[in-house]
Amino acid sequence: MPIKIPYAKKKVEKKPTGGKKIPFQSPKGMHDRLPADFVYIDKIEKAIKKVSLFYGFDHIETPLLEDIRLFERGTGLTSEIVQKQMFAVKTKGDGVLALRPEMTPGVVRAYVENGLLYVANPGKFFYYSPVFRYEQPQHGRFRQFYQIGFEVLNSDDAAYDAQIILASLKIFEDVKLKNVTVKLNTIGCKNCRNTYVKKLKEYYKNKVGSMCHDCAKRYSENPLRLLDCKQEKCQPFKAEAPQTLDFICTACKAHFKSVLEFLDGGQVPYLIDATLVRGLDYYSRTVFEFFAEGVDFAIGGGGRYDYLSETLGGPKMPAVGSACGVERMVEAMKLQQVHIAPKQLYKAFLIYMGDQAKKQGMLLLDEFYKAGIPVKESFAKESLKSQLRLADKEKVDYALILGQREVFEEVILLRDMKSGTQETVPLKKIVAELKKRV
Ligand code: HAM
Repeated sequence: MPIKIPYAKKKVEKKPTGGKKIPFQSPKGMHDRLPADFVYIDKIEKAIKKVSLFYGFDHIETPLLEDIRLFERGTGLTSEIVQKQMFAVKTKGDGVLALRPEMTPGVVRAYVENGLLYVANPGKFFYYSPVFRYEQPQHGRFRQFYQIGFEVLNSDDAAYDAQIILASLKIFEDVKLKNVTVKLNTIGCKNCRNTYVKKLKEYYKNKVGSMCHDCAKRYSENPLRLLDCKQEKCQPFKAEAPQTLDFICTACKAHFKSVLEFLDGGQVPYLIDATLVRGLDYYSRTVFEFFAEGVDFAIGGGGRYDYLSETLGGPKMPAVGSACGVERMVEAMKLQQVHIAPKQLYKAFLIYMGDQAKKQGMLLLDEFYKAGIPVKESFAKESLKSQLRLADKEKVDYALILGQREVFEEVILLRDMKSGTQETVPLKKIVAELKKRV
């Protein structure tokens, strides 16, 4: 059940448009982010900034559009994202750009292209950015959505796999999401994975005929993703499938063991899920996903991508990262009835009567701005009664009342909204006076 927020409940008493509507809607799977949504979104963005500051992640943002080949090579030709979900934009020349379906390949490109390699090593970045996937819109699945994420570039240290998981959990904790589960697995490196994939193919050889259409394709193109299938008819086969941990090399095993030890050190509870492989092609070694109580989709996921830079034509650069879906986090916060106390944004409300007072009020607001005191106004309302009603609704501590007489006498009425008492203050002193009180 959605939580009660005064703004969200606000009823439109009169139809200000006289019932007229604009005959356009937001594109399928894309949503307006309204002020009521920002009650949650602001909290999430505040949390990622706070956590990033603590763990030393710097803010990064890359263009919305990138050369489509960045994702074809990076996210991978066998991934669903590249096969089915890219918004491609043809440019005037020969190039094709894509609306970024995720952030990771762009961040790697930016790190190498801008020489950040020589400035920040390892490079630790965070983002909160919109991404686009041409999906069939459904609950928790949109065509434009926002991701918050972390990337650590140029380090293969298992401590960073653990830190990325820990930092993501800190965000969930900060936004008061309860009972978040971390599932993780290792899918090995490019050498040992081949041995595993061979075993997997052997196992699925006689079963693939009874599995879904996509799995037949996965069997030949990317057998690891057979384990990622969500179709009911394919589920029973997963249970008996060979597990990566039995086939990966000693170095990968040691790396995974190290990740688990760091997580244990940070007292992070986790579940090892031997069928977790993730849907993007670039992953190697550690992979993980986050689930929140009450929602049946992952609220975040990530892993190591030690070969992505090389695949894109860059230097050897092991890396690890994660991203969480903001809309899914908001959904989970609503379902878990996370309480967000309404904040008092304004301490005072400016009430004017007459044109002279309106002009004087405009100047006065500028002085309050300079003094760092937010004062709300409603210049579109004229009557004292309706302005006072608004001041009351805003739950401000003071109303500043400026009529023609006050302008003439260069004073202003300062009304205490709780007690209802009122005093006259010289206009020149009102900013200092309010500053003293709030
Ligand atoms: P991903 O699992 O594709 O990973 O997406 C991360 C999160 O974005 C998901 O767990 C989910 O919460 C959210 N998400 C994905 N698709 C949708 C959708 N259509 N509508 C709403 N939310 C969605 C990545 O994107 C990787 N770049 C993560 C990463 C960073 N790996 C390493 N570094």
